[in-house]
Amino acid sequence: MHSFRYLEGRLHVENVDLESLAEKYGTPLYVYSQGTIEDHFKRLDAGVAKLDHLICYAVKANSNLAVLQTIARMGGGFDIVSGGELFRVLKAGGRAANCTFAGVGKTRDEIEFALKEGIYCFNAESEAELRYINQVAGELGRKAPVALRVNPNVDAKTHAKITTGKSENKFGIDFDRVLEAYAAVANECPNLEIRGIQMHIGSQLTSVDPFVEAVKKVIPLVEQIKERHGIKFFSVGGGIGIVYKHMLDSGDATWWSQESAEKHPLTIQAYTDAIVPLLEPLRLRILMEPGRFMVGNAGTLLTRVLYEKKGNAKTFKIVDAGMNDLIRPTLYEGWHQIVPAQAPADNSTELADVVGPICETGDFLAQNRDLPPVKAGDLLAVMSAGAYGFTMASNYNTRPLPAEVMVHGSDAYLVRERQTLDDVVKGERLLP
Ligand code: LLP
Repeated sequence: MHSFRYLEGRLHVENVDLESLAEKYGTPLYVYSQGTIEDHFKRLDAGVAKLDHLICYAVKANSNLAVLQTIARMGGGFDIVSGGELFRVLKAGGRAANCTFAGVGKTRDEIEFALKEGIYCFNAESEAELRYINQVAGELGRKAPVALRVNPNVDAKTHAKITTGKSENKFGIDFDRVLEAYAAVANECPNLEIRGIQMHIGSQLTSVDPFVEAVKKVIPLVEQIKERHGIKFFSVGGGIGIVYKHMLDSGDATWWSQESAEKHPLTIQAYTDAIVPLLEPLRLRILMEPGRFMVGNAGTLLTRVLYEKKGNAKTFKIVDAGMNDLIRPTLYEGWHQIVPAQAPADNSTELADVVGPICETGDFLAQNRDLPPVKAGDLLAVMSAGAYGFTMASNYNTRPLPAEVMVHGSDAYLVRERQTLDDVVKGERLLP
């Protein structure tokens, strides 16, 4: 479900006019649809209803407290990768007991914090890390629940920078060494409790095949580990891809909400239909760690056109959002649909680059894009920016972080204030 559509020629999210939000809160501005997040959660939850399961939302995709609160209220758990993310989950009303803690470089402070709060499981990525968690747990007089992340060496067929399940990636423990690692934990780490097994092969997967290949490859191992160590859960990770390119009908069309299952490269139904029957016979608790699927299409980045520049080679639309606000286009060659807040009068288009104010050639939101004619002062919506948008934003060029708004029906809530310049320099000191 997507909740963006033109009503009387103006782009709305749910029942709220985006231009009115831009006027009230300024730009660049992130806007999220709570209805979309809830719908995505419910659809995944229903798709895996046959399994004993827990959806652990990958906090890194969008960690705004209101987003986490929305997921917590629906009964979701969380996949965290830092003490900071655990802090956010707790602040948002989430429970540590529903958190898994991933990542290759957990520090002592983070391990202690997670242990004291009682997280569900540490997903460990190396033997060295397991031994360290064992040591810290021993010093605290506690037992740490652990799962090992297996690297199944399966090609996720996604962008190289978001592929994680190949042997050359830094993640997880090699498939053929996992049994040994479990044995080492059982024999040599008295302060660890073996609780599960985990994998995650990559992000923005647009076909179900790599998921199926990885699950099929790992299941025999899961069975063995269940038998030997009595594990309780198998986490299949995240990675469900979303549609970034939608039909744009001009005029009063509800183009954004027209997305149909056929156009989706990987529907939630295809995903669950393929993996649920494979997982059911395991009779284990199944965890999923979706990030992008939950929030990606729920968010947009609003930006205003500042200037237009026609050069010999190209036309540039210079906007007030830059790579510091949304880094995906330049970092991953991410393609984000850009549409005007005011519906275009006809189908005419103009080839242009949409660029930000940052002093970097890589500062673009779109290149060689056919856009409806837009001029200085117009508001643009950069779509599908709910995942890995704000969470990857920075203060580069001393630009304050944008504000964030959550929409629910006809209501809009400011869920993060725009940073001030004083906020940006907070904590810095002049020399004596
Ligand atoms: N679980 C683990 C262990 C992960 O590393 C990730 C993402 C997820 C779950 C969630 O994956 P998702 O369902 O969102 O695909 N910044 C990049 C994406 C990086 C993903 C990192 N790990 C982007 O903007 O495309």
